[in-house]
Amino acid sequence: MQIFKALLSQLLACVAVLGLRTTFFLSISVWQTVAIQACLAALFSRGFHQPYWWLPIHLLFLPTVLLGLSWQVPAWLYLLILLLLTLLFWGTVKGDVPLFLSSSAVSQALIEIVSREQAKSFVDIGAGLATVVVPLAKARQDMAVVALERAPLPWLLATWRCRNLANVRVGRSSFWEQDLREFDVVFAFLSPLVMAKIGEKIRREMRCGCLFVSSSFPIPNSQPESVLELNDSRKTKLYCYRID
Ligand SMILES: C[S@@+](CC[C@H](N)C(=O)[O-])C[C@H]1O[C@@H](n2cnc3c(N)ncnc32)[C@H](O)[C@@H]1O
Repeated sequence: MQIFKALLSQLLACVAVLGLRTTFFLSISVWQTVAIQACLAALFSRGFHQPYWWLPIHLLFLPTVLLGLSWQVPAWLYLLILLLLTLLFWGTVKGDVPLFLSSSAVSQALIEIVSREQAKSFVDIGAGLATVVVPLAKARQDMAVVALERAPLPWLLATWRCRNLANVRVGRSSFWEQDLREFDVVFAFLSPLVMAKIGEKIRREMRCGCLFVSSSFPIPNSQPESVLELNDSRKTKLYCYRID
């Protein structure tokens, strides 16, 4: 599990940097020691094949702790930050996809896609803060829109943002438990790690002729019907798969 790999990376980096200091009698400052530890932790993390988004966590972890100690941050603040991060990222430590938000270019492209498809129903599996769902539901008030989000804080914010949109349902459940049969267009912005399993799920559940759109990550060994490259800062690619 990712959390054990992360802890092991941090621990090994601590042992390695302390070993280096004592073996070679390095006279380096605490901050230099912490900087070396952070780089080593990031390297160990890559060695354990952790996803790339763990790198900033490893690089910032010990320096942040040291900063907190030197500023004498009150203990309850750590607890509060931990609580907020847990509610925001929820299953991420178990290997779930973290929260990244789509650009407005993605929402705009999806509005065009659902209009061209004459879609009556749409779902965002892993809706985050409803960044995609809100503009889509406003633009297509005749379409039933479902937003599924498992992490409590994003779900709460998404529910609040959709409170006046009669055509939106925000569900606090895992998309793995949602049958995708009822949707004309399914949208996902997840992670390369889950795309093979998602590919199996859509082929098993989605109806023939319906469309699956994946932002940024293709389904391995599957030919998309089309790939749209958007003109946003990430040059997002939307991989569109027709179910046959
Ligand atoms: C990369 S974000 C995408 C957010 C939004 N769809 C967008 O495009 O802006 C992925 C989201 O999927 C959620 N997520 C991850 N696994 C999930 C699951 N099994 N069920 C529901 N949501 C999930 C995460 O909590 C995160 O908010």
